Amino acid sequence: MKKLAVLTIAAAMSVAAMSGAAMAEKVGVSMPTKDLQRWNQDGDNMQKELEAAGYEVELQYASNDPSTQLNQIKTMIGNGADVLVIAAIEGDSLGEALDMAAEYEIPVIAYDRLLMNSDAVSYYATFDNYMVGTVQGTYVKDTLDLDNAEGPFNLEITAGDPGDNNAGYFYQGAIDVLQPYIDEGKLVVPSGQIAFEEVATPQWKTETAQSRAENILSSFYADGTNVDVWLCSNDSTALGVETALAANYSGEYPIITGQDCDIENTKNMIAGKQSMSVFKDTRTLASQVVKMVGQILNGEEVDVNDTETYDNGVIVVPSYLCEPVFADANNYKELLIDSGYYTEDQLQ
Ligand code: BGC
Repeated sequence: MKKLAVLTIAAAMSVAAMSGAAMAEKVGVSMPTKDLQRWNQDGDNMQKELEAAGYEVELQYASNDPSTQLNQIKTMIGNGADVLVIAAIEGDSLGEALDMAAEYEIPVIAYDRLLMNSDAVSYYATFDNYMVGTVQGTYVKDTLDLDNAEGPFNLEITAGDPGDNNAGYFYQGAIDVLQPYIDEGKLVVPSGQIAFEEVATPQWKTETAQSRAENILSSFYADGTNVDVWLCSNDSTALGVETALAANYSGEYPIITGQDCDIENTKNMIAGKQSMSVFKDTRTLASQVVKMVGQILNGEEVDVNDTETYDNGVIVVPSYLCEPVFADANNYKELLIDSGYYTEDQLQ
């Protein structure tokens, strides 16, 4: 692997000789933001596990600002990263840093979110994003018993960030389950907003999801119409919808979906304000990525289980997909507390 001239090979060798040990290999970990709970967990888990495996870690968060993330990654390369692990804010705004990584032959792992439009992406590790949507859509279908009930039921949809390649998969996974019932008229969308572009939430922001939900509630539900289901792609957007409902809606409380099992949302599930979430154990993803890093650096075959799905516009990136798990108020204890993900106190 070619290293940057910042540290010449001779200098590196003399440092290693002086310390009497080989220098630890360095992993640069770039996370999108500290604003959302999960990325803090992802970053912490990655750092802990990589350090335990003997690597030096440079972990950075980019405050949801793509240009900050770009610069942070360039700095990691300048600091001599041997591997980069990147959870992108916007999948296709890191081209310059990826070109630089390619130039210095630094392997890049896309973490959770695919890096788009670049051939400099070596591997992708994530949860099965389409399956997340399928789990949400199937929950709605089963809970409303759509095959037998007469309906019609009112549905609203809140999806994720158009800049995040995952968002389309979550949306599509759910819509593929629900579309036949929409076509049949058993599910009706009073706002008329169904297409991904109409229901997307830039940057997954809770406040944006909330204000859109407030508008929908005042325009289409103020006359006492019930909203039966609010399909939300993740927990940060679900939280916005839940806050909007609390202040602007007095009908029967809808089914609300989510993803991540964030603390606030898990509390809401326990309190009956969110019906389900999809648990993606960030420890599982971190372990898988640490394993990938080791396999790459040792020149071993890298574990992947999907070589077809994730086309980033230039290449199909070999991927490892972890399995997402359905969560609700009935199984959260086993999933989240017994497994040590949260303490009981955190959910009080
Ligand atoms: C992740 C989700 C998360 C969302 C917002 C997605 O890329 O896969 O777990 O809820 O980003 O951060």
